[in-house]
Formats: sequence, structure tokens, C-alpha cells
Amino acid sequence: MADWGWLKDPELRKAVSKCLSHVKKLKEQGKTWEDFELSEVGVPYHIMRKLVYDYEMFEVTYKSRSHTFYKFAVPIEEVEKRLNESEIVVQPVVDESKKFVDVPLDFWEVVEGYDDLKELFLASIKSNDPVHILLIGPPSTGKSLILMEVERLAGSIFVTAGTMTRVGLRDILLNYKPRFLLIDELDKIKDPDDLSVLLTLMESGRVVVAKHNEYREEKMKTWVFASANTTKGLRPELLDRFFKVYLRSYDPETMKRVIVKTLTLREKVNKDLASYIAEKIVETDMSVRDAIRLARISKTKEDVNKYIEILKRYKRLI
Ligand SMILES: Nc1ncnc2c1ncn2[C@@H]1O[C@H](COP(=O)(O)OP(=O)(O)O)[C@@H](O)[C@H]1O
Ligand SMILES: [Mg+2]
Repeated sequence: MADWGWLKDPELRKAVSKCLSHVKKLKEQGKTWEDFELSEVGVPYHIMRKLVYDYEMFEVTYKSRSHTFYKFAVPIEEVEKRLNESEIVVQPVVDESKKFVDVPLDFWEVVEGYDDLKELFLASIKSNDPVHILLIGPPSTGKSLILMEVERLAGSIFVTAGTMTRVGLRDILLNYKPRFLLIDELDKIKDPDDLSVLLTLMESGRVVVAKHNEYREEKMKTWVFASANTTKGLRPELLDRFFKVYLRSYDPETMKRVIVKTLTLREKVNKDLASYIAEKIVETDMSVRDAIRLARISKTKEDVNKYIEILKRYKRLI
């Protein structure tokens, strides 16, 4: 049952108002959907969690590892009415960019190896002014994982080419004013407007809104950390704004450590079985993602052997 208790909390009111104006805008534009991601409305996750679970104002309509979409669980007309009826208390907005960056104690714990790179990232994160980093490398070298770790820091926002197609980078930035902008698969972003917004942001810390009847600039201090499979197709002036870090496919020993870490920490597989799977995967030239799939369907070493045999029987003949 929806609980309207949040109306007394200025922070929650502000969050609901933001969502409300966003959804109204979608309606005005004749859009057929009314769900949204937090990056589109500029509401932090911990606030949304309260509104979903404590007050049942929103429901989750779609969730994957990197995306969650929400929609109002009650008619928006009623939300608007109640917001207008009750006394409005406005609190000053906390400017995330001014706050000291709190790095969690277990930061980077899920990431195996790359100690030097972790140091480089931390130095950039703690620097007074933005230092942008681009990770370039083949699949399964931990690029997304590293970005997802940084996403844990306050003021972070994680976007992909997919999010941008739907929302546009300018709106994401204006709504959220992120301290850390994490862009996965930068090479897939093709929209010239998104790219020019990104370029201006990285160059001068500004976002420009120039429409027929409106011109304004917003300043923001934003670090950009991105990943790409290749730099092919990326504009040189964009590349030039990053420290470029080229990752290489793992050698067998590193690969084993990566698999053991992923399986024990994330998939809750016991160490013994994880090591066994790691050995097998490296022997048979399979990937970290294969290891995860294998772990999910195997309870014993015999299972591992059996499924590997099946996959071998059906492997691609060159
Ligand atoms: N260095 C690493 N430490 C821990 N897990 C890793 C590492 N590299 C890759 N993985 C795991 O392998 C899988 C693929 O990694 P991912 O970060 O998605 O690669 P990429 O984005 O480079 O394709 C993920 O499950 C990830 O957790
Ligand atoms: Mg990736």
C-alpha cells in the first residue's frame, strides 16, 4: 500500500518532484513509456530505494546489472495534487562535487591484479581537478568491472551507449551533475551531439544548453572514466583528453586468478571447485564468462568435466 509519509521529508519530496516533472515531460512529448532510469531524473539510488520499498511510490519495471528502470506505482495526478497541497520545505542541495571523496574500505576488492592501475585510478579520483582515463582492450579484461567499482563512489553515474540513445548526455549531466561519469563502451557512442557535449565537458567543465529561446551554461567538475574495445572510430580530439590505458588479454596464470576471484567472491563457489574450473577453462581456451556459466550449472568436478566434454563435442570447427 502506498504510504504518503515521504511528503514530510524535503529530500524525498525533491526526488519525487524530479521524477514527476520527468514523467510529465515524457507525456507532453507523446512518449509511449513512462519509466525512467535514475540518471534521467537525477535521484540517488539510496533515496529511490526508500521510495520503492518503504513508501511504495515507485516500482521497478526492468533491472539488469547496470540498468534499473522505475515507474510511479500510483497515478501521477494524485502525486502532483498531494505535493501541491502540503507545505513545501526546500533544503539546500548538497553539492556532491565539493565533498571529500569517500573511498570504501573494500574498494577494488573484486578486481584481481592491476595493482598499478588501481593506484593510477585512485590518484586521479583524489586529484583536485579532473583527470580522465580511458581503458582500451579486448573483451573480458575487466574494463566494465573497473568502471563498476568506481560507480560505488558518491556522485557517480554509469552510462552506456544505450542509456544515451534514450536520454542524451546533456540531460544526464544537467540532471545529475556527476562527479564521476563512467562510460562503458565509449566506441559505441555515435551521436554527434553526445560526443560534442562530452568534448566540451572534458575540455572546460561546462555543459551548454543552446535552444532557440534559451542559452545557458552550467559548470561542473566531472571526471570521465571510460572503456572501449578499440580506439578505431574515436575522434582524435576526444582521445587526446584521456590518459589511455591499453589492457592485454590475461596470461594463463592471471586468468586463473581472475576466475578464482570471480567465482568465489561473486558466484559464491567454493575455492576448491573454483580452482578446478579455472584450470579446466585455461586448458581448453575458454573465457572468464564461460567459467561463470560453467560454475552456475556445476555442483561437482564431475559436472564440470561433463559439461566441458559436451561443449567440446559441439565446438566450432574452423
Ligand atoms: N581483473 C579481474 N578481476 C576480477 N574479475 C574479472 C577481472 N577481469 C575480468 N573479470 C571478470 O570477467 C568478466 C568479464 O569482465 P568485464 O569487466 O565485463 O570485461 P570487459 O568489460 O573488459 O569485457 C566479469 O565477470 C568480470 O567480473
Ligand atoms: Mg565490458
